[in-house]
Amino acid sequence: ASAESVTTDFDASVRAHLELIESKLLAAVESDNPVLSEAAKHIIEAGGKRFRPQLVVLGSKFGPEAGVGAEARVARGAIVVELTHVASLYHDDVMDDATVRRGSDSANARWGNSLAILVGDYLFARASVLVTDLGIDIVATYAEMFNRLVRGQIAETIGPQEGADPLEHYLQVVADKTASLISVSTKVGGMIAGADAGTQRLLADFGEQLGIVFQLSDDIIDITSDETGKTPGTDLREGVDTLPILLARRSIDPADARLLELLAGERTDDEVDEALGLLRKHPAIAEARADVARRAEAARRILAPLPDGPAKDALSDLCDSVVTRTS
Ligand code: FPP
Ligand code: MG
Ligand code: MG
Repeated sequence: ASAESVTTDFDASVRAHLELIESKLLAAVESDNPVLSEAAKHIIEAGGKRFRPQLVVLGSKFGPEAGVGAEARVARGAIVVELTHVASLYHDDVMDDATVRRGSDSANARWGNSLAILVGDYLFARASVLVTDLGIDIVATYAEMFNRLVRGQIAETIGPQEGADPLEHYLQVVADKTASLISVSTKVGGMIAGADAGTQRLLADFGEQLGIVFQLSDDIIDITSDETGKTPGTDLREGVDTLPILLARRSIDPADARLLELLAGERTDDEVDEALGLLRKHPAIAEARADVARRAEAARRILAPLPDGPAKDALSDLCDSVVTRTS
């Protein structure tokens, strides 16, 4: 979940805030062990669009304390969510046997699985230390999110239970492994800036829907794009059934016989490439894209009750860019 092209134009105050966050991110993972420091900075330095920090900052604009002394705490919240995200990528790349991330070697490719897992743990630990300063309500929100994040990844790994609907299972996994953290990003921004309970709930609901759209887009791009800084077809290779795959599998068109055969069992690397070629031309891609566009519109509608202004416009623009991104 980390294609690099979700961007929108922010106003000067948001840009300045994001620069402050960027300048503190690497220092937040510094340690007295040079190997650990290097490995912990590796994926942060390799790139990333800082999507979750953007959401924390934008969420904070809907609280009464935005701009009056909340900056440092908002920055801390943003660092917590970004470190949590990056930590999950260290682990995810081990599980997905991924060799590239953000156009660089994945941590597991460079340092091996053991160190990649431990450095992921270290990043989680750093986020945990930093979050304590934000108060018990935010710690509790963070802990609940972490519970969902881990359970989502576990549910993906185990797969749907006997008799369960694979599409429902997939959407639950997406919500838990990805939308949980994105939802907490917008919500925690609001919480830090003193937003009322209704606004916090709205920000959380919006983030949840945006997060689902974000991961569905990511899963389409895994099939369609060669420029993600990751290896295309990773989900196919790892046997993770994503939306386009689940939609294609419903086909009763005899012309899809070979594709359905490829999607049914274990696949060799050549068969992954063959399935990728067939899927790229398949109507399931357009169907999946239409579903994503509908969901993005639904996310945008959640914003309606919020006061108009640059922060609302920026959140609305993000609804477009998660749909249109191609990498
Ligand atoms: C990326 O999915 C993975 C996630 C969004 C969640 C990963 C969560 C964990 C690894 C749980 C971590 C928990 C602990 C305790 C360490 P993806 O593989 O579809 O994204 P990608 O295309 O960016 O690889
Ligand atoms: Mg992955
Ligand atoms: Mg994964």
